Amino acid sequence: MTKTILEAKKLVQNNIFYKISDISENLGFETYVVGGFVRDSLIKKSQTDIKDYDFVTVGSGIKLANKVAQALEGKNKVQIFKNFGTAMISWKDYNLEFVGARKESYSKNSRNPVVENGSLIDDQKRRDFTINSLSISLNKNNYGKLIDPFNGLDDIKNKIIKTPLNPDQTFSDDPLRMIRAVRFSTKLNFNIDNDSMKSIIKNSNRIKIVSNERVVDELHKILSYSKPSIGFKLLEKLNILKLILPELTNLKGIDEIEGQKHKDNFYHTLEVVDNISDYTNNVWLKWAALLHDIGKHPTKSFNKKNGWTFHGHEFVGSKMVYKLFKRLNMPLNEKMKYVQKLVLLSSRPIVISEDNVTDSAVRRLVYDSGDLIDDLILLCKADITTKNIHRFEKYHKNFEIVKKKIKEVEQKDKIRKFQPPVSGEEIMEYFGLNPCKEIGAIKEAIKEAILEGIIANEHKPAFDFMVKKGKEMGLGN
Ligand code: CTP
Repeated sequence: MTKTILEAKKLVQNNIFYKISDISENLGFETYVVGGFVRDSLIKKSQTDIKDYDFVTVGSGIKLANKVAQALEGKNKVQIFKNFGTAMISWKDYNLEFVGARKESYSKNSRNPVVENGSLIDDQKRRDFTINSLSISLNKNNYGKLIDPFNGLDDIKNKIIKTPLNPDQTFSDDPLRMIRAVRFSTKLNFNIDNDSMKSIIKNSNRIKIVSNERVVDELHKILSYSKPSIGFKLLEKLNILKLILPELTNLKGIDEIEGQKHKDNFYHTLEVVDNISDYTNNVWLKWAALLHDIGKHPTKSFNKKNGWTFHGHEFVGSKMVYKLFKRLNMPLNEKMKYVQKLVLLSSRPIVISEDNVTDSAVRRLVYDSGDLIDDLILLCKADITTKNIHRFEKYHKNFEIVKKKIKEVEQKDKIRKFQPPVSGEEIMEYFGLNPCKEIGAIKEAIKEAILEGIIANEHKPAFDFMVKKGKEMGLGN
């Protein structure tokens, strides 16, 4: 214990904390650093990647923030959230957040807290988890002292996520905390304590009163970690996943007819998300991995001849992506289109890796996926979850062949950012045409000829092809 007290002291031997301590003293406040900074630096003991500092003051958080902003070098703007009594300063690449210590309770059916000023312990009580309520004093009389009324330090040692109060109360105060428990469990590889687990299962329906934006924010974070499956399995176990992403829970289970089974697409999906997390931090690519099979639920069918099939699941799945993003108030922008396109194309590289791949199949894939080709290949590699070592190695080997082919085709034909080698104007001028549908038809024929490998992706052969094609169509000058 003494060791950790010394460690806590060390954590705040830093100019920014000294400055805040002085300012707080001058204002007659008591101030503490709390939350993620304390938790993560006690766990990791390295502070270099911690960029968010939370301060709680027995006094006005807004007043303190204003004074701190003036005292720090640079022009520092203070963002004030009056309703919550919080203020934030973006300073260098840090976010400094200040809040006045509060006693808080929430009305049953809304997220609007009824707030009163409180003491440090009041404030610690109303926080989500014991590991997040650990505070270090910045006050002169006990500078660096760790204040841990809920044994957060023991919970860090025992790797436990636990609420400071009765979990029903903590989760009822803010039901998002049920997902946050899962998120911290995924991030830190901690277990959620049993009573908290039971309480989440009991209160899971309350997640419905939380805004979609806040839920999605937590999902993004779960996806950003190295093993997101931990979080999604937990959300499923706690009855929350079906309320926020029923498309995923619908993939659960294995059906069997006449001795024929299909795989459990839920657990398969989670494996794919973990696999892709070994290679990328791109959270949208991880969303694509998470959603790549959602079309398998509505398209599932069985017939004696072919067994289980999921015809067109990629197309159906890509349509479902739009609905899902819309429902969760996620941006319906190029990120959504990116996810949709990856879902739509998600089986294509596998198909060409299984057959004797032709140049034209590769060219078409590169054309259809454009700049997404590398991410698509990554997704498809991550999609290989077979436990048969022989097959696993074979598929991976085939992917290396596909990758090589893509490179060759790319260098030769420059398909990735395909620009028609003959323009509409040239076609009109050559055949003496006004705008008409024949121009589109000729351009399409040129593109097809290039993709089929009939002509090279260059101006001269494309122009000659245009002349020939135009003649066939009865155009002339
Ligand atoms: N907090 C809470 N209940 C919430 C959100 C936040 O009690 N619903 C408190 C916790 O004490 C938390 C602190 O506010 O530690 C800061 O919240 P946040 O920035 O979301 O999380 P961090 O703990 O900083 O963790 P991370 O950096 O991983 O997001």
